[in-house]
Amino acid sequence: MRRSLRRQREAVNGEVSMAGRISGDETQSAGFDPRNGDPDELYEELARLRGHGRVVHVPRLQAWCVTGYEDIAAILRNDEDFSARDHKPRSSADVPADVRETLRTWSGESVSLGEMDPPEHTRVRTVVNAGFTSRALKAAEPGIRAAAAQLLAPLAGLSEFDLITAFAQPYALTVILRFLGIPDEHHADCLRWSDHKVQLMVGRDHTEERLREYATGLRAFGELARELTAQRLSAPRDDLISAMLHESPHGHRLTPQEVASAIPTLVITGHTTLAQALAMTVRHQLRAPGGWEALTSGAVPIPELVEEGLRLDCPVVGMYRTAVREVTVAGHVLPAGSRILLLYGAGNHDPARYPDPGRNLPDRWPTAPHLAFGRGTHYCVGAGLARTELRIALEELAARLPGLSAAPETTPAYRATFPLRTLTALRVRP
Ligand code: HEM
Repeated sequence: MRRSLRRQREAVNGEVSMAGRISGDETQSAGFDPRNGDPDELYEELARLRGHGRVVHVPRLQAWCVTGYEDIAAILRNDEDFSARDHKPRSSADVPADVRETLRTWSGESVSLGEMDPPEHTRVRTVVNAGFTSRALKAAEPGIRAAAAQLLAPLAGLSEFDLITAFAQPYALTVILRFLGIPDEHHADCLRWSDHKVQLMVGRDHTEERLREYATGLRAFGELARELTAQRLSAPRDDLISAMLHESPHGHRLTPQEVASAIPTLVITGHTTLAQALAMTVRHQLRAPGGWEALTSGAVPIPELVEEGLRLDCPVVGMYRTAVREVTVAGHVLPAGSRILLLYGAGNHDPARYPDPGRNLPDRWPTAPHLAFGRGTHYCVGAGLARTELRIALEELAARLPGLSAAPETTPAYRATFPLRTLTALRVRP
């Protein structure tokens, strides 16, 4: 039964790659194309899209976009009708055959956790979860705080700096590398390779030379992952790589190859999103009148600021699913094979759930959970670690840079990486 469901899903994924045949009850989206819009107006764009309906077909994205909180949450609860196999944005690059081959094999043959459907997903996720216990998070806290303190110490004496490159990004990457058990000496390589992966997934207009450079970088990333896996297999330590290799919760196990494949995913997703969430939260606090003082004085609890920051501007604005069979979404009948973009950013600003959704109101919490970490089967495995990192970073920023302010108005710099949110600079004054 399970096996036939899997075959059916694989067949569906084959069909999806011939997209453009979407038919039926199609709503036009009045030119919505967030890939080209002004990123600082993303939420206005999403609100305009919502004005066209709860589910809107966007030809340029070759997807049906779902905008409402409840509709998104219902799809995320339903693994039988919606597959995650093709969940990432598709590269628009014309990739030469040799590069395509490298991209197919660089991290091994296993697909990533986010692309698996049950029952494969259940087995792999159960083992990965074993590395993220509350005991493991608690044990990591002193190291996370030390990483924040070490990075912030030299910044207090500067007149101005970029919060993203000087703090958010190195902090997020240092934490996930140490949590996995990857030595600090690989920091610069992992940063570069992660960027290659993001560029390949959502970047546009790559030259062949660039694509080859990315592929070579990813092959080296895969090799490092395999090397570390072999080391931890024979000599386990107290880190996530060792936990994934040696834990067998409920009798589930991962092969060394599966662990090696998971490592780059955890590095990439574990730091790019976190750096964004941190930068966005600081940006929103600095923009709100009295916002930074509310944080430093303790007038607003930091965990509530973290949740509202994630809701207000989430790093993963949307992720895709594929209809396994004909489905009804918000009253629209969508054929089997339809590609569906769950707009977490739109759901997090759904006025039916969040009154005045564009305002930074930390006292909404803890009553209104958001979609920034997704929901259901694929709910972010690193959510607990991310919340710990965000809380500690804000605590350390508040303690060490109590007078922090935004540098005089500079246009925010973003990269065109929809549906990922990429603010590239945030100039601040200590
Ligand atoms: C603020 C930071 C973060 C945000 C906003 C975020 C967001 C998300 C979202 C929205 C999903 C669900 C994707 C979907 O529905 O298809 C997800 C899944 C995932 N995240 Fe995160 N994430 C963050 C931090 C992390 C960290 C620190 C790690 C690693 C330690 C991580 C690893 C993963 C993995 C492996 C998945 C796939 C889980 C599965 O499919 O079972 N994330 N994340």
